[in-house]
Amino acid sequence: MRTIEWDEEKDSIKLIDQTLLPAEYDILECKALEQLIDAIQRLKVRGAPALGAAGAFGVVLACINEKSKSDIIKEVERLKKARPTAVNLSYGVNRALNAAMRGRTTQEMKTHALEEAQRIADEDVAMNKKIGDYGSELLENGDVVLTHCNAGRLACVDWGTALGVIRTAVQKGKRIEVIACETRPLNQGSRITTWELLQDEIPVTLIADSMSAAVMREGKVNKVIVGADRVVKEGVINKIGTYMHAVVAKEHNIPFYVATPLSSFDLKRSYKEVEIEERSPEELIFFGGKQIAPLDVKVYNPAFDFTPFALIAAVITEKGIWSKL
Ligand code: MRU
Repeated sequence: MRTIEWDEEKDSIKLIDQTLLPAEYDILECKALEQLIDAIQRLKVRGAPALGAAGAFGVVLACINEKSKSDIIKEVERLKKARPTAVNLSYGVNRALNAAMRGRTTQEMKTHALEEAQRIADEDVAMNKKIGDYGSELLENGDVVLTHCNAGRLACVDWGTALGVIRTAVQKGKRIEVIACETRPLNQGSRITTWELLQDEIPVTLIADSMSAAVMREGKVNKVIVGADRVVKEGVINKIGTYMHAVVAKEHNIPFYVATPLSSFDLKRSYKEVEIEERSPEELIFFGGKQIAPLDVKVYNPAFDFTPFALIAAVITEKGIWSKL
């Protein structure tokens, strides 16, 4: 199934619970907005484009469960704030909400919101395929590509952005190997990216985030590709650690690419105006349920960082490659 889908029979959202991977593959059903908000905050569904679809399907839940237009608007405001950094969540909510508001009855609002949410989900898959087509031209046979976090099918509705580029290149017959950074503290790289790539039989090597500089200096990487949570005036906001890899790639003359749909663009805003989500200290104090730091240590745990365009060789979108930055 896709990362996130609408269940017509049960009038609910079905999503692959990403916190259980790779040990377990389980589908979570959300019938109430509260459950969806919780799933988003716990990263059961995550990745900017997947959050866009989640936001849109969340509006459908609100239309089913709320009585009036003003209640729907109030409820989806909470949904928009579930995670603040990826622009896609509010993009998805706004599109589905505008569609819903065209309806006069509850049933009409639900129907309009659902049609729009399905459109967003289908567009996302189509955009990723286009990103893959454009981006795969930047990859050569034999390339070893480093990636950070998970910008694969599970971060999107399907296919993926950064991993979509790699998948398309492989489909076109290119031999590509991937180096996946584990992506502390929540390990989207080791848990999800490696799992996705192994499923597709694309060779992947897992490294700790702190190894990327050494690996690049040793000449083991030809290119870096990551996704984006928000493209702003001066550069790209993505998973914490992205900036570090970009700095190191520049130092070693390795092209650093960002693959992302235009739905993640927010060019009117500066990175300084974007709220960078700060997550719980527990994510650093505990690992796999085991305490690994003093309980009272001061913790700084931002989930995202900013990489300026000066460090980015190209941004790959569904409309083409943007490289004169
Ligand atoms: O905290 P997450 O797992 O939602 O962060 C995801 C990322 O940073 C991805 O790289 C980004 O959303 C792009 S996904 C196509």
